[in-house]
Amino acid sequence: MTARLIDGKALAAQVRAQVAERVQALKAHGITPGLAVVLVGDDPASQVYVRNKAAACEAAGMLSRTVTLAADTPEGELLDLLEALNTDASIHGILVQLPLPGHIDTGRVIAGIDATKDVDGFHVANAGLLLTGRPRFLPCTPYGIMKMLESEGVPLWGTEAVVVGASNIVGKPMALLLLAAGATVTICNSKTRDLAAQTRRADVLIVATGRPGMITGDMLKPGAVVIDVGINRLEDGRLAGDVDFETAVPVASAITPVPGGVGPMTIAMLLVNTVEAAERQLSA
Ligand code: GUN
Repeated sequence: MTARLIDGKALAAQVRAQVAERVQALKAHGITPGLAVVLVGDDPASQVYVRNKAAACEAAGMLSRTVTLAADTPEGELLDLLEALNTDASIHGILVQLPLPGHIDTGRVIAGIDATKDVDGFHVANAGLLLTGRPRFLPCTPYGIMKMLESEGVPLWGTEAVVVGASNIVGKPMALLLLAAGATVTICNSKTRDLAAQTRRADVLIVATGRPGMITGDMLKPGAVVIDVGINRLEDGRLAGDVDFETAVPVASAITPVPGGVGPMTIAMLLVNTVEAAERQLSA
């Protein structure tokens, strides 16, 4: 078997074109959706992500405002900025790029974002709505993965889905979405005793660990659909996923490449959430 490549870049372009149409419809009502992106510090990877998010926003016809703060910015100053953005009528979505510097409490900062503008879906109110089956904003990466699985016609009802990684950003919300779609879900973490025994049961395997190449072809069920969330910069400068692509391709039935898989979808779904936030304001 040779796995089919799941083209996240192409699907993201489709999603972004649909968002651009919705933006034009809102503009006809005098509303330009606005996204504020806040970056604290000068982490190079975060700088790239923030730049890409702002550029995608503008390409879709939305307003983007990027606020960059020094790495030693006091938490109180960041909370004050969020309060100003919460009450700014031109801003419909607010995103604080993670990770934050160590002296800042991430939970307090996310709690400082108005939950109706939390387009990352990280606020406890939005996490709770997802948990209880009434989602408001879905976290962008799991949302994008569901969109890819749907677009590829991957069945989930009654299947075995395994999620490797249990973060609040990807693993946990991903598991909830797969569960809601009717899959039997296993969440693995760094303590999982026999990881390969778990991953080999997966009809659909989602990997989000940040450890390059940790899932190899021998850990897959033949014909599995493999979604690789990892974006790891190797010493030689190349990007690599959490899945060892070479050994996985002969075993899987479909796989996302890195780059060009999940990454572009995360940004596309951020735009979907932002246009949605603006549409809700119109209908409020
Ligand atoms: N850092 C890594 N992924 C994300 C994301 O989806 N949103 C934010 N705000 N920060 C991140």
